[in-house]
Amino acid sequence: MKAKFITLDGIDGAGKSTNLNTIRNWFEKHQLPVLFTREPGGTPIGEALRELLLNPATHANARTETLMIFAARQQHLDEVIKPALEKGIHVVSDRFTDATFAYQGGGRGLPLTDITILENWVQQGFQPDLTLLLDVPLTVAQQRLSQNSHPDRFEQLDAAFFEHTRAVYLERAAATPRRYSVIDSSLNLQDVAQQINQGLAQLFGLDS
Ligand code: TMP
Repeated sequence: MKAKFITLDGIDGAGKSTNLNTIRNWFEKHQLPVLFTREPGGTPIGEALRELLLNPATHANARTETLMIFAARQQHLDEVIKPALEKGIHVVSDRFTDATFAYQGGGRGLPLTDITILENWVQQGFQPDLTLLLDVPLTVAQQRLSQNSHPDRFEQLDAAFFEHTRAVYLERAAATPRRYSVIDSSLNLQDVAQQINQGLAQLFGLDS
């Protein structure tokens, strides 16, 4: 079986951290080799850029931010993601390029066509086999985020930013439904886990 590249995405407060455990459990149950990683991050360069990107004291404009994210992504692809896939190890990334379209495109307002140019340059056609998109109404996400006493540079942004971010995620999923599994993350944990397991089972042709 060719190793698969799976990404988990969604607005801040959509419940990614909790649901990563569900994904871990599914791979364990099916005894499939898997590597978990994240963006921005996943390499020493990527983690250093992540520090800068998430630090509320950083004043990067939208273009600088986007270039930093794609620099981290290039290194992540070359140093971690592609080598693992070539060894037959499945890769799950906590966020990938959908986040750049949603946050820097939708949220920050950069033209999506500019992001596509960078995507093509860095990825050369490389795309996830499956994107699990956790979707929640803004009110639910904001309520979850309000419990965090140290919000990072993105978590501090306002509801309008996240409305635009969410809209781009959903537009992308609607435009290429074969690649996405859109998960209603406002449901209880068990129902969300069931949807995630179904998405993975369908990709691998195994039971959920
Ligand atoms: P997270 O690890 O909590 O998801 O934090 C990463 C933050 O970085 C999150 O707020 C979204 C943001 N981000 C972007 O704005 N664009 C991107 O391409 C990626 C990967 C993340």
